[in-house]
Amino acid sequence: MSTAAIPGIQPGQTALVTGAGGGIGEATVRLLARAGVRVVAVDVKEPVPDLLGAGDIAFLQEDLTDPEAIRRILAAIPGDGALDYVVNAAGVAWFERDGSALDIGEDVWESVMSINFGAMRRLSVATVEPLRRGTGRSMVHVASIAGLRSMDSPLDAYQVSKAAVISLSRALCLDLAADRIRSNTVCPGAVLSPMIEYLYDEDPSRRTRMEDKTPLGRLGTPADMADAIAFLLSARASFITGIDLVVDGGWIAQIR
Ligand SMILES: NC(=O)c1ccc[n+]([C@@H]2O[C@H](COP(=O)([O-])OP(=O)(O)OC[C@H]3O[C@@H](n4cnc5c(N)ncnc54)[C@H](O)[C@@H]3O)[C@@H](O)[C@H]2O)c1
Repeated sequence: MSTAAIPGIQPGQTALVTGAGGGIGEATVRLLARAGVRVVAVDVKEPVPDLLGAGDIAFLQEDLTDPEAIRRILAAIPGDGALDYVVNAAGVAWFERDGSALDIGEDVWESVMSINFGAMRRLSVATVEPLRRGTGRSMVHVASIAGLRSMDSPLDAYQVSKAAVISLSRALCLDLAADRIRSNTVCPGAVLSPMIEYLYDEDPSRRTRMEDKTPLGRLGTPADMADAIAFLLSARASFITGIDLVVDGGWIAQIR
């Protein structure tokens, strides 16, 4: 197993990462584990086969919309149960069922809000006590540029759920400042992960259009997002809280 230090993150610290079966969460787990961080990784899916060998990683297959899952996740934190870092990366984008607020059904609203926002809210609140007992004291929530701007093809339940993530992160910034716990979001643009890869496999011209829309001329990678997440977690960001770090190759800087 190769090791690679992350400035401002100490080997032996402990992190909880959700969405660890998907692109951004998995890349974050690997990055932290390579730096010697003990990781509790959570996803409703099974882990990719080689993930568990990538470091000190405990993988829990849990549905984060199940309130009981939180108790099991907290119980799996190693050592004395203290946490240094929390990364909320689990999420869904239902391109086939989501759409305009004028059309989408109640079931889609409820499910998307419950997965993307409700689970993040519940886990963030539940991990405050373990974070108080740790030294890292940082949360990063993976939102989206869709939480900051409307998209040209609407995905309104997703957009609103990510706006809620951003808003709660700012609320937590203030709620937890006295505890010196920081709360920030990373807002990705288009990232080549399982969430959208299949769309490009079905229609490669869709990928080209997305690359053309992005000033830096390429899609983001899960590793790009993991680097931004690790920076915000780390002590190098120790005076940064309540911000939304856009990682989108310049997409929302433009008017078009
Ligand atoms: N890929 C992109 O272009 C993009 C853009 C902006 C924001 N994001 C956000 O980044 C985060 C990570 O997405 P990704 O691109 O890695 O997608 P992904 O689909 O590869 O990973 C998301 C993971 O979340 C897990 N998950 C979903 N519901 C869950 C539940 N109820 N309980 C536990 N786990 C659950 C999925 O199983 C999946 O492994 C998401 O919150 C997503 O909204 C992604």
